[in-house]
Amino acid sequence: MYAVCFFFVPMLQRLNEALHTAYGIKHIAAIAQSFVFYGMNMIGENNYLKTAERAAREAGAILLHHLGDLREIETKNDNPLNLVTEADRNAEKRIVEVLLEAYPDHAILGEESGAHEGAAPYRWIIDPLDGTTNYTHDFPIFSVSIALEHEGRIEVGVVYDPVRDEMFSAERGKGASLNGERIHVSEEDEIGRSMLVTGFPYNIHDNPDHCYERFIGFLSEAQAIRRLGSAALDCAYVAAGRLDGFWEVALQPWDKAAGQLLIEEAGGKITNFEGEEHDIYALPLLASNGRIHDQMVRVLADAKLISITITPRS
Ligand code: IPD
Ligand code: CA
Ligand code: CA
Repeated sequence: MYAVCFFFVPMLQRLNEALHTAYGIKHIAAIAQSFVFYGMNMIGENNYLKTAERAAREAGAILLHHLGDLREIETKNDNPLNLVTEADRNAEKRIVEVLLEAYPDHAILGEESGAHEGAAPYRWIIDPLDGTTNYTHDFPIFSVSIALEHEGRIEVGVVYDPVRDEMFSAERGKGASLNGERIHVSEEDEIGRSMLVTGFPYNIHDNPDHCYERFIGFLSEAQAIRRLGSAALDCAYVAAGRLDGFWEVALQPWDKAAGQLLIEEAGGKITNFEGEEHDIYALPLLASNGRIHDQMVRVLADAKLISITITPRS
């Protein structure tokens, strides 16, 4: 394929130039140009997934560069638990540069820089550093998450772990992979033999949000529960079959947009806590290999019956 395109793409480029300069036939030149673009997309040199992977790798290098050498750790949204660093900002800046160089008319939703309009019906959803609390403690579990949304659907998603050099990638309808090798969710069908993962929102001190009841519910039924500290990696690990299920009460679109596609393309299931259709702009997320999904929905429903008394801090 690469060999064919090696000849095919330059040939179209030369045809384009010849038509444009010799005859001035602009619309034919434009058609040739879109063939070139299509050809390059097909060989994977300029497609959305490759661009997202390149942006994620560059961001990952920035994160590794700052790791263990942060000048300042700030807090945001008036919340002492919600941290942000120069690494988050520098990584996001580079991701946006890479994406807009390739696709100048695309829109962006970045955790750190917010929303930027674009003329095209494509929007990149970016978390430049998922796992900031881990990162500030030099705890080596964090990731870069980049997804491409087109007319409300996630079409491309990558989650990159720079510490392990693991690139989890998915394209809608084309499956999910880890460093180029196809991945699938686990085959476990019993919650009692499942290893689950969860995370907690930054407002947990003030609003426990039933985190504890749900945690106790799963603790009493699952084989084991982990808390990795990066929701994007939680999703990627479910997609890769390393974990069987994941629930979290309040996630933002940049935490889970790429992860959602990874899980779906790896054969898993994503819903809200009631087992209904998941909306990436709604907060709760329930993800699993599909086989234990109904059991997880039942545990979440039963958790409402667990009674513990929590006094929020005054
Ligand atoms: C956080 C992580 C964490 C999850 C939090 C997220 P951040 O993202 O994904 O695992 O529990 O809810 O906000 O702040 O490190 O990008
Ligand atoms: Ca995040
Ligand atoms: Ca982040």
